[in-house]
Amino acid sequence: MKKIYIKTMGCQMNVYDSNRILDAMAALGYEETQDMNQADLMLINTCHIREKAADKVFSELGRMKEVRNIRLKQGKKTIIGLTGCVVQALGEEVFAKVKGLDIAVGPQSYHLLPELVVKYERTRERQIKATFSSEEKFKNLPKMNARGYTAFLAIQEGCDNFCSYCVVPYTRGCEYSRDAADILKEARNLVETGAKEIMLLGQNVDCWHGMGLDGVHEWNLAKLFEEVAKIEGLERIRYTTSYPVDITDDVIAAHKDIDKLMPYIHLPIQSGSDSVLKAMNRRYTVSEYLKVIDKLRKARPDIAVSSDFIVGFPGETEEDFLQTMKIVEDVKYAQSYSFKYSARPGTPASLMKNQIPQSVKEERLYQLQEKLLFMQKAFNEQFLGKNLPVLFIEASKGQVCGYSPYMQNVHAVEDKAVLGQIKNVKITRASASSLSGEII
Ligand code: 5AD
Ligand code: SF4
Repeated sequence: MKKIYIKTMGCQMNVYDSNRILDAMAALGYEETQDMNQADLMLINTCHIREKAADKVFSELGRMKEVRNIRLKQGKKTIIGLTGCVVQALGEEVFAKVKGLDIAVGPQSYHLLPELVVKYERTRERQIKATFSSEEKFKNLPKMNARGYTAFLAIQEGCDNFCSYCVVPYTRGCEYSRDAADILKEARNLVETGAKEIMLLGQNVDCWHGMGLDGVHEWNLAKLFEEVAKIEGLERIRYTTSYPVDITDDVIAAHKDIDKLMPYIHLPIQSGSDSVLKAMNRRYTVSEYLKVIDKLRKARPDIAVSSDFIVGFPGETEEDFLQTMKIVEDVKYAQSYSFKYSARPGTPASLMKNQIPQSVKEERLYQLQEKLLFMQKAFNEQFLGKNLPVLFIEASKGQVCGYSPYMQNVHAVEDKAVLGQIKNVKITRASASSLSGEII
């Protein structure tokens, strides 16, 4: 059997895609290895969202090329390929910019990878595919098996929002929703192969409007939750990412009505200033965003909210930044991801005149992250002495760990019998990043 090594960067969608790439290559006789030295095929599944993510490709590729040389001396051939958003963003130019590549495949063309590998082996000519049809991809990939107790399932891909800083519409294309029948089939298969929790993925998951089971009427996300929840053996449903004002009242109601839907929502605000939001081309004001959170908390008072933030967007003043700091306190986020604004080629914001100096961005990010961690610690500390139901997913170094309904990482003393199960844990310690306690 040949071996494939894949390094995944970027978002959960990329993790999902990497799994599907592994399944597609398994059909060609490739088995996954974690050891690069063993790999006949090495892939980097790339991210283009920020400059830092794109830069990582080069260091990873450097390592791969060294290993390829060592293997060559041992008489073994190695193919090196790039997949993902960097390929889509660069197109044919990828071979000039990223030296030493044999194969390049964009996010909508993974189903063609086995064919490209075979063609490369036969001709030794570089191969590239970077088309824009999510539909083709989903219809042509083999069925997906679970690789653990939690699984990702892409239901929607692409984005029509065109936030002025973002490359996603250019790398993942326009919005596409998979049919309900396909999604439900994949979900059932994931559960049959061991998944207890499914995370439904989409760049704008609330826009999902796939064809329903009757083949005539489209469903919405709330209806999909209802049907996925009927799968026996599935314990938990999560979803991400939501665009704040696209979340509908019936999705909000689902948080009250569907037990399997976890009380957690990722609702990226990006900035606490209306003028920055406008320049970002986000379709909401801060007060509209807060109204959505109000409604969610009315439906499900304990819901945990997380967010993404960008600091140092072009033109962001100290006053704008202080409004972001204020929103963090007002919302009391359970978790957050925060980034320095990174100018991305081809986006409108990269051409804006009033770019913010690096040192200011760094200082703001530092302050914001300090506050976010403080809030996160406070969120976690509320659970001290209380019981939380934890789905245990892995064991390592004498501990088992898993997730609470609120996405908190929870540790307990190792007991392998609890893996794949939901157990109540009495919380005895809390930090900003995790909880620990005793299994009851
Ligand atoms: N610079 C910094 N952060 C960005 N994000 C998206 N584009 C950029 C950019 N150009 C962040 C947003 C988004 C998350 C996935 O990445 O916060 O929600
Ligand atoms: Fe990165 Fe966006 Fe591509 Fe995900 S979709 S890998 S975040 S550029």
